[in-house]
Parts: sequence; structure tokens; C-alpha cells
Amino acid sequence: MISVGGRLFVGVCVRVILLAPCCGLRIGFSLLLSCPRAGGGSCGLSMIVLGSHLILRPVSFNVRCSLPPSSLQIRKLSIMPGGSGTSHPSLLFRQLFEKESSTYTYLLADLSDPDKPAVLVDPVDRTVERDLNLIKELGLKLLYAINTHVHADHVTGTGLLKTKLPGVQSLISKASGAKADHYVEHGDKIQFGSLYLEVRATPGHTAGCVTYVSGEGPDQISPRLAFTGDALLIRGCGRTDFQGGDPAQLYNSVHSQIFSLPEETFLYPAHDYKGQTVTTVGEEKLYNPRLTKDLEGFKTIMSNLNLAYPKMIDIALPSNMKCGIQDESNGSTGSSL
Ligand SMILES: [Fe+2]
Repeated sequence: MISVGGRLFVGVCVRVILLAPCCGLRIGFSLLLSCPRAGGGSCGLSMIVLGSHLILRPVSFNVRCSLPPSSLQIRKLSIMPGGSGTSHPSLLFRQLFEKESSTYTYLLADLSDPDKPAVLVDPVDRTVERDLNLIKELGLKLLYAINTHVHADHVTGTGLLKTKLPGVQSLISKASGAKADHYVEHGDKIQFGSLYLEVRATPGHTAGCVTYVSGEGPDQISPRLAFTGDALLIRGCGRTDFQGGDPAQLYNSVHSQIFSLPEETFLYPAHDYKGQTVTTVGEEKLYNPRLTKDLEGFKTIMSNLNLAYPKMIDIALPSNMKCGIQDESNGSTGSSL
């Protein structure tokens, strides 16, 4: 039996969802009560906080339950585009889309820090104005414009961002060979406020691909988020026939650096062409039609894709090697973080 706001609920073989309208803090909440079986088995209780404004604060919620404390699981989830959730009271997260190249850009910020420091992953030149407006409206301080790799299908927005928002620094992997203010390598941490992204080298789609994974630990985002670029797409992966691509290397990168993360880790790719927004390690380990094969099967698939020559590659690559339109003086003196 559970008491919520003075109302009693008996939780046997029932699933109850309570939705409350947004309050003054623009936070609604729901209670999901799930007791799969009466008289035995496990009974679980999950509390889901829906942030209509994506600005979450702890919600005081009075829950009494006749079940033993060990049988309860209480989780706070911030709702993100795509319907997935993660728990961190000070995280602001936005998944943004550029329709011409079907590219996702990700904005993350730590709202607990007075400066609201932010990072932007894989910005696109065509949508820089949109991103800048959002950053301004939310009062964020953009620290880094980050690329997962040298893109071949769109021009990165990092150079443009730097010209319009002085102080922003571009960042890409050292192995990419591209110019930027800072170069990262496997194991580096990109700090924004009290949160950070860990750099994991995941070459194979290109030689310089990296995956950015949110930090590990009780004060970090949980479940973790991984921004996989084109190394891993939802139920797919990036092609391996350009830019130093190598199927065996990609296979090893995904299995050793991404599939080794906890199964509940949310995976956010650089693109999706079917309207999907997010997946998890567990899902891809079960359903990715390429990466669930053995290495030889994967190599066979990748060598028989018969894809067309990338239509933007001759424009995008030379530009992206200089972080978009970034001038030589900004990009030629890159340093480690
Ligand atoms: Fe790519």
C-alpha cells in the first residue's frame, strides 16, 4: 500500500501512472507503480520526474510503502527528446537536428554552476544561428564546440560559432589531423562545471573518430550518455570506405569502447535517417544488424554496401579539416586540453 498526497494505492498486479500538471517550477511528475506479481517475486516502484522545461530540481515526494525498503527502486529521470531519460539534477540536455544531412547536435550544460557552462557536440554550419539563440535564451556559457570526427556530409559549425561567440574553443581528436584550438586523446576529460565528458578513441569510420562518454561516478550523469559520432548509429554504423576507414578497426572500437559500457548507457549518434533519436548499449548488442555479427561477417557486410560517392565530401572535408570556416590563426596552434 502506498500513500501519495493523501491518497492510497494498493499495488498488487497493477501498473499506475499518475500525471500532474506543471507547477510553479515548471515541473510535472509521475508515479509509476509496478507490482508484477502478488505474494512473491520482486515489486518495483519508480518515480519519474518529467521536466517540461528540462530544468530539474529535486522534487519532495512523500512515499510510504508496505513493501520492505530493499524492494524499492526510486529513480529521477529527466525527459529528453526521444523519450529517454537520465538522472542528474543539474544537467541540461538538448538533442538538436539538422535536416539536410540528418545530423544531430547535442547541447549539454551544468545548471548548478553559476556560469551554466556548456558544450556543443557536432554543430552544423547551417544551424549555428538556431544553436546560438538557444544558448543565449537559456543563459548558457558555451565553452567548447566539439566534433566527434571530420565529417564528410556537412560543414561543421565550430568555426562559425567561434566567430559569433568569442571565447568558444574548438575541439577535435589529435588523430583527426584537423585544426582546432584543442586536441583530445583517449582518456582525456572535457570538463564543464562539475560534469565532464570522457574521450574514447573509436577509429574505424575515420582514423580520428572519438566517442564522448559522460563521466563516471556518483556525482555524474546516470545512466551514462555516449555520443558516438558515426562509429555507431542506431541499428547501423558509419561507412568505412573513406577517410582512413577500416572495418576491422571499427568493429574492435565499438566492441571494446562502446559495447563495454553498461547496457543501460544511452547512445546518441551523429545521424539518423529513419527518425530514431536514441538507443542503448543493450539494444544495440541485441539488435544492431551489423555489429552483432562476428568480425568476418561484419567485414563482409561493410565491403558490400555499394554506397554512392558522398555528395558533400569534396566541399565538407577540406573545410572541416580547418573546423569549418575557422581562420588559420585560430586553428593552427591547437593544444592539448
Ligand atoms: Fe562521418
